Amino acid sequence: MLTLLYRARMVGLKALVTLVPVPRPMLFVGADSTRELSRAIARFGARHVFIVTDATLVELGIIQPILEHLESLDVRTTVFDAVQPDPDFALIDAGTAELESAGCDVVLGVGGGSPMDAAKVIAARATSNKPAAQLTGIMKLKAPPLPIYAIPTTAGSGSEVTIAAVLSDRDAKLKKPVVDPKLVPVAAALDPKLMLGLPPGMTAATGMDAMTHAVESYISRHATPDTDRLALAAVRMIARHLPRAYADGSDIEAREAMAIAASYAGSAFTKANVGYVHAIAHQFGARYHTPHGLANAIVMPHVLDYTRPAAAKRMAELARAAEVEGGTDAELADGFIQRIRDLNAELGIPDHLADLKRTDVPAIAAAALKEAHSLYPVPRYMNRRCCEALIKRMLPPDEAG
Ligand SMILES: [Fe+2]
Repeated sequence: MLTLLYRARMVGLKALVTLVPVPRPMLFVGADSTRELSRAIARFGARHVFIVTDATLVELGIIQPILEHLESLDVRTTVFDAVQPDPDFALIDAGTAELESAGCDVVLGVGGGSPMDAAKVIAARATSNKPAAQLTGIMKLKAPPLPIYAIPTTAGSGSEVTIAAVLSDRDAKLKKPVVDPKLVPVAAALDPKLMLGLPPGMTAATGMDAMTHAVESYISRHATPDTDRLALAAVRMIARHLPRAYADGSDIEAREAMAIAASYAGSAFTKANVGYVHAIAHQFGARYHTPHGLANAIVMPHVLDYTRPAAAKRMAELARAAEVEGGTDAELADGFIQRIRDLNAELGIPDHLADLKRTDVPAIAAAALKEAHSLYPVPRYMNRRCCEALIKRMLPPDEAG
């Protein structure tokens, strides 16, 4: 009965994503493309840009050249650098108050997924009478947000091209997405020069977030020929370039390939959506503040093991994209899961979650399935018992028993 309800809901969502057009942002790509984006912002008539970022990027000197260039183009700037990982409702409301008192007419998110997501929701909150807590859910935005622009400094979330932003509900210990095509930025710059200083651990985690987007969108029941092309290209590029960017952060060719791949993967999942990996990883993030990409990387092999009986052919195609050797589809599907495990090991990502507590598993499973079964078109339905067993495989040795 539950699976029938779930299938019916997914059919409805598929009709929605097919009927609702999703805009694609204008992308400026390559070293110093940030300057091209700034010129576009000025040309499109912005008077005062509200830059949403975090204090680390200000300290690293990444924000100052953007400010100076915009000011040289007669565009005023105000910087809001209070974004922390996992932005919450209070941050959005505080940012919106600052935007309104400064009188900004455009929002520019600079940073990883958290600043870009915060920028998107602040732009929406500024044209809405509702507090941030009431904007979560699917297509809850009545008015168009202020124009949104994005400069990612990690190659991971794909937020610069997606319809989604994820907020934390700290009281409920839940992640709550805001999903609306109106959240797609007008334009973004994929500037690999801004990513050269990203530490290896963050390069690995964010890169595996992008890999998860590509994989989950490819095995999704809402995948289309268009999302398939984007997802396969992303998998190919990430498999080749993520180990390079991790081993040598100054490899600008690898950084640029990763930036493009993350945007491809973002475009793929904005239509085809994600699945159980994200549903479980979001609970780790909400409960233990596990970085999003790290949580995805740890969860992904286990969800692929579970999903394999229903998606061997699709996984074999992912394996070919990742240049895995093998003959039959079954061999290739197994090879792809092993490739993800090997990639995690190469990137220093553990196979268990150190913070995970056995006593938390039932609540995590319940919240993950609630999220997945209301939003994600997964290829193989999972019940509570299977989900709890799957999560227990990620317990640290001292909790595993
Ligand atoms: Fe993600």
